[in-house]
Amino acid sequence: MIMYNWEELIMECTNCKKCILGDTRKNIVIEKGNRNASLMFIGEGPGEQEDIQGTPFVGRAGKLFDLLLEALRIKEDQYYVTNIVKCRPPRNRVPNDDEARTCLPYLRNQVFLVKPKIIVCLGATAMRHIIDKDARITKIRGNWIERKGYWIMPVFHPAALLRDESKKVLMWEDFKKVKQRLDIICQNQNS
Ligand code: URA
Repeated sequence: MIMYNWEELIMECTNCKKCILGDTRKNIVIEKGNRNASLMFIGEGPGEQEDIQGTPFVGRAGKLFDLLLEALRIKEDQYYVTNIVKCRPPRNRVPNDDEARTCLPYLRNQVFLVKPKIIVCLGATAMRHIIDKDARITKIRGNWIERKGYWIMPVFHPAALLRDESKKVLMWEDFKKVKQRLDIICQNQNS
């Protein structure tokens, strides 16, 4: 598999028309945050605001996500955020398997360049394409999966909390585990 440097990767994505999502996007939505972070979040795909602004997690779910990170004192320079697909699916539908599969090499390239220690899958779509296509988010959320040297955790998608307040407690517990591991990694890096 060809791996690009950042400049090449951004160029490839910007010119990408490999699936039909490329026909309807306003902007490609590639990344937000620190490219050298130990913690990487992977969402599903851009929504309306993300498509307009070209940045992930800037809409309603993104605002809630920011609040969670702030409350846990996970600072902006400590994480990197991206999505399974880089173009907005029309009417925010879930990206289909072909679209996700077509876009996954870009995500693999991002993981290769960022080299995170922790990967958090935000929601069922990220979980399906990264961990196990048959798993259920309600069953495996909050559990660590160690794979190829990465610590991976599936959690609910922040948009799910907007629909169902009762998920907030579980999400908080899961994010606390992420923060704990991040603190350990930071301590080891500083010692
Ligand atoms: N939901 C996602 O999964 N990703 C975004 O960037 C915004 C909302």
